[in-house]
Amino acid sequence: MKNHRIAWIASITLAFCHVGAAGAQGSSAQPSQSAVQQTAPQQPWMNPSLDPDTRADLMIHEMTLDEKIQLIHGVGWGVLRAGAPVPPADNGGAGFVPGIPRLHLPDINLADSAVGARMAALEGRYATLLPSVLGMSASWDPEAAFLFGSVIGRELRAQGYNMSISGGMDLIREPRNGRNFEYSSEDPVLAGTMVGQLVRGVQSNHIMGDIKHYVLNDQETGRNILNAVLDRRALHETDLLAFQIAITSAHPAGVMCSYNRVNGDYACENDYALNQILKHDWGFKGFVLSDWTGTHSTVKAALAGLDMDQPGDDGYFSEPLKQAVQDGKVPEARLNDMVHRIVRSMFSSGVIDEPPVRSVVNPFRGRDDAEKIEDESAVLLENSGNILPLAPGEIRSIAIIGGHADVGVISGGGSAQVDAPGGNAIDPKPGPSPWEKPVYFPSSPLLYIREQAGPGTTVVYDAGTDPAQAAKAAAASQVAIVFVTQWMSEGRDAATLSLPDDQDALVAAVAAANPNTIVVLETGGPVTMPWAKDVKGILESWYPGIGGGQAIANILFGRVNPSGKLPVTFAASDNDLPHPEVTGLAEWTANHANGADRNRSRTRPRPFDVDYNVESMAVGYRWFQEKNKHPLFPFGFGLSYTHFAYSNLKADPDAKSVSFDLSNTGAQAGDEIAEVYVTLPASAGEPFRKLAAWKRVSLAPGAMQTVEIPIDPLYLKIYSTVDNGWSQPAGDFLIEVGGSAADLPLRLHQSSRRQ
Ligand code: BGC
Repeated sequence: MKNHRIAWIASITLAFCHVGAAGAQGSSAQPSQSAVQQTAPQQPWMNPSLDPDTRADLMIHEMTLDEKIQLIHGVGWGVLRAGAPVPPADNGGAGFVPGIPRLHLPDINLADSAVGARMAALEGRYATLLPSVLGMSASWDPEAAFLFGSVIGRELRAQGYNMSISGGMDLIREPRNGRNFEYSSEDPVLAGTMVGQLVRGVQSNHIMGDIKHYVLNDQETGRNILNAVLDRRALHETDLLAFQIAITSAHPAGVMCSYNRVNGDYACENDYALNQILKHDWGFKGFVLSDWTGTHSTVKAALAGLDMDQPGDDGYFSEPLKQAVQDGKVPEARLNDMVHRIVRSMFSSGVIDEPPVRSVVNPFRGRDDAEKIEDESAVLLENSGNILPLAPGEIRSIAIIGGHADVGVISGGGSAQVDAPGGNAIDPKPGPSPWEKPVYFPSSPLLYIREQAGPGTTVVYDAGTDPAQAAKAAAASQVAIVFVTQWMSEGRDAATLSLPDDQDALVAAVAAANPNTIVVLETGGPVTMPWAKDVKGILESWYPGIGGGQAIANILFGRVNPSGKLPVTFAASDNDLPHPEVTGLAEWTANHANGADRNRSRTRPRPFDVDYNVESMAVGYRWFQEKNKHPLFPFGFGLSYTHFAYSNLKADPDAKSVSFDLSNTGAQAGDEIAEVYVTLPASAGEPFRKLAAWKRVSLAPGAMQTVEIPIDPLYLKIYSTVDNGWSQPAGDFLIEVGGSAADLPLRLHQSSRRQ
């Protein structure tokens, strides 16, 4: 780290050589914070009663051309790449944009923080590992999403960052995508709502938020070279809708454009996606930043709507952009617009008026928040014979098998990797986490299971490396709990939905040895379970975060009544998916050792198309309904230790809201996520139900509540590429309500006029 900083000093002249006299003056004559504060009130844009746009315009009016250029690109890879220079004021995150002290404009320090601040260990800091975003979305609880984001914002602020690059928003079209744990759902309304709340939580801490990767970055294989193909109507009603909901509700400072091409043009120079839709139609006022090396041109990208090039050392937005402005190829007004978007976001988020103050992250508060979110997010998929919850005192012996459950819980890799306190629990070493290895966090399920089982229960652990030995341990215990893990990471997709490392064989061996087998899954996304019928309990805990061990025990022993529901379909087989194989993966694997980061090789296969018109609008559960296929576990499914009954569905004439009665018919208090689906009139050409609304309802045993849920009129509309807008198709549409996409006891036909 220190060496990087020395290298920065050596290269500082080089890095700033594009900054002209006034800019250099602005950057190198760094006034002290107190000097800045003294001069601040005299600068008209420092008047907080003015609106962010006026303040930005006043400041930009004072900027030189070089200062403007300085703001629209990062200064290189910094700590991300060994040997790259690190500016002294760089906080150690993924990106750094130097500010302009003479104008009271702070540096922008950007931190990867999908599930907690990344690379904290580089600076000897602590960061909370939250559950995966997909896990959090299984809570279907917008308040949990807000809390999730607020933990990220709070800890970034304490660490001195002022921008989070989190907000993973790509739709789960490809259930084997290595980054699904950073994303939210296969359904655009659920995904957009949850990620929007997450970003609001981040920004509630006066941290600039971000939503990424815009758009159709739905698989990792070939992400830099693939061209995602999807008709515009389908694009609007699926992937774009998710972004639209999140962006228009959260107003993030940044939107990160993705690596891939979208219908021909790279996402970061895609006029349709950036200018026409994001900025014009949705009125996005923040700035578009490229994914790291996602910029491919100067003039085309600038004119198409890219506002900031990251990490910036490709040079597209430095000297060549200045030249393009001087030559009139990029109008100066467009450069001013780029700068305006950045500066107004800094004002509106509060990073100028209330800059981050370094302090010590509170690890206990973070852990409690992470556990609380996981308590709501774990999904109980099977509970045959009511084997769960386990009754402390009644179970004499438990065998815990596999998944490193003796030491911790697994986390996702890539730029979302958070550093584990004390190092990787299965291989502790000082320093930041490796890119290509599974990292376990020290939240031991074994420890908490022992604690909650009580002193009268013998709890043994078997590593699960030898199925025969594991079966012996299982046979000798009253209950066997097998932990299975699936490590997923940026830069690679899973080749299949199967659990890796022969873990299916392990579960099968244990289940054959003990009729009371329970499986706890720690997976990045959906997996197949050939043994599902042979075990009594299945709990999907996702990547459960630093409170994971305790949350898993809470549910197994009934301290928490499970309430999470699947935000993604679990297919029974890869063959049931729209794309039975990950597009392009065979060629990648032929070119690279299996398991190697599929984007880092120098020998790149030919660019290829990913044809999303195969499933088009029928993403996820819609595909299964349209093709009449039966998933292993449907979208929206999850069990509770109590039972709920639905009755008495009503809708107002325009279906602006629905109401129904929900009763807890069991003997325990519990939360039900009540789901509302709509099937549009036949004229819409969408022969499937779509999630339109939901509500998480807490009910005491025996209690009944009349639940009223508003429906956003947008979700009853279709997108017309002729009118470039939304309209409600006339005719008969169907409203269905229940506990999952495949269990909807209430149905009502309603007719609508075209709107
Ligand atoms: C990832 C982004 C990340 C960036 C900076 C890229 O490889 O796709 O999500 O923010 O790196 O680390």
